[in-house]
Amino acid sequence: MLKAVLFDLDGVITDTAKFHFLAWRELGKELGVTVDEAFNEELKGVSRMDSLERILAFGGLADKYSLAEKEALCTKKNDHYLELIQEMTPADILPGILPLLEELRAAGLKTIITSASKNAPGILELLQVKDYFDGIVDPASVAAGKPAPDIFLAGAALADAEPAECIGVEDAASGVEAIKAANITAVAIGDAEVLAQADRVLPDTSALSLAVLRDTWEKAIA
Ligand code: BG6
Ligand code: MG
Repeated sequence: MLKAVLFDLDGVITDTAKFHFLAWRELGKELGVTVDEAFNEELKGVSRMDSLERILAFGGLADKYSLAEKEALCTKKNDHYLELIQEMTPADILPGILPLLEELRAAGLKTIITSASKNAPGILELLQVKDYFDGIVDPASVAAGKPAPDIFLAGAALADAEPAECIGVEDAASGVEAIKAANITAVAIGDAEVLAQADRVLPDTSALSLAVLRDTWEKAIA
């Protein structure tokens, strides 16, 4: 039986992905590294420090900064990101998400946030949806970030469910890879080519419903 839905946050519940992109692009400029939309795909779902490491490697700057300097760069990016998101309200919840959360609650399914973002609790507060979730996995509590399976395995455990009883919802290739590595059924939102590893790809969140999640899960575990 399908027991739990494990939700990514950025790009699934709300479109913070564009603000992460703007903040990384700005920091990239300061470092002399061009972060364009194509390269940004490789940052989606990836933790703050891992994203910085990827940007530095992309710009041939892998060994240039000490850990303390890299931490300062991450803080700078995050301060800019927090400025960009502070105006967010419940109107920024992506289409179809609230009705889905209502459906899941009515059907008694568990809902867990499995986001790499340390800002997830604050964003859920801004969107006023915190109460729809049974738990939030603290990304700092897992050993390896996406594309490793750890955060989704922790999400299943938090829901008191086996991986086979869960479905994960993601917008990033690294996230889909993490879900599949955890032996969990994956629904992806976005470009079918980028997200080809998912069990089902939907063009946007308005196509999400309990019926679509159940159907995807049933076909995947059959
Ligand atoms: C993920 C985003 O959800 O969280 C990434 O897709 C982001 O772009 C990562 O880098 C970490 O977020 P934060 O808020 O902790 O910097
Ligand atoms: Mg995401």
